[in-house]
Amino acid sequence: MTQDEMKTLVGQAALQYVPPGGIVGVGTGSTVNRFIEALATLKDRIRGAVSSSSASTERLQALGIPVFDSNEVGEVAVYIDGADEIDHQGFMIKGGGAALTREKIVAAQSARFVCIADESKLVQVLGRFPVPVEVIPMATQRLIRQFAELGGTARLRLKEGQPLVTDNGQYILDVAGLQIGEPLRFESDVNQWPGVVTVGVFAHQKAALCLLGTAAGVKPLSF
Ligand code: A5P
Repeated sequence: MTQDEMKTLVGQAALQYVPPGGIVGVGTGSTVNRFIEALATLKDRIRGAVSSSSASTERLQALGIPVFDSNEVGEVAVYIDGADEIDHQGFMIKGGGAALTREKIVAAQSARFVCIADESKLVQVLGRFPVPVEVIPMATQRLIRQFAELGGTARLRLKEGQPLVTDNGQYILDVAGLQIGEPLRFESDVNQWPGVVTVGVFAHQKAALCLLGTAAGVKPLSF
């Protein structure tokens, strides 16, 4: 089975966690795009979605799924999103699509995080994938030095030769070379650094369940 087929499979498998008549939290990325396509088949049986990015909002609306502002709704029962890495405790690295801040906001508003990912994302220790960090632009160079003190190499994410600007008007640093043995502590510590908007380690908002796409089919991992 190809990686794309695994993404389609877990995107479809996530439908069983969508609350009938309810609102579902929707993440961002190529795996979630498969979920959004599957969700369109249920659109008459849900109220709508809360979305974590402009890109997902556009896709949802194009398929006729109403998108609510997160301030218009209370707690959401389920948040469905992908991950760049997930470990055996359900801790994740996210933000490869630059949507980490809104993803964390919708995850925090949701009772249950269901992660959908192909098996290449499962790791023993987080950190092989460079950790995305959304930062206030004026703090960029100081934060690059602060990550260097931790042994990380932080690079400003570019798009067409210019700093990539997030949906929130901020920059992204991608930090390579970290081994994140204590994700809860790492997330709390880095979130305190002046100029950090959001660190792309999801430990306090970890997954409750991962639907992992494998060659043998969907493997559910509960945490
Ligand atoms: C978006 O900002 C990310 O957190 C995505 O959830 C993550 O990058 C996974 O994306 P793919 O499903 O495209 O691998």
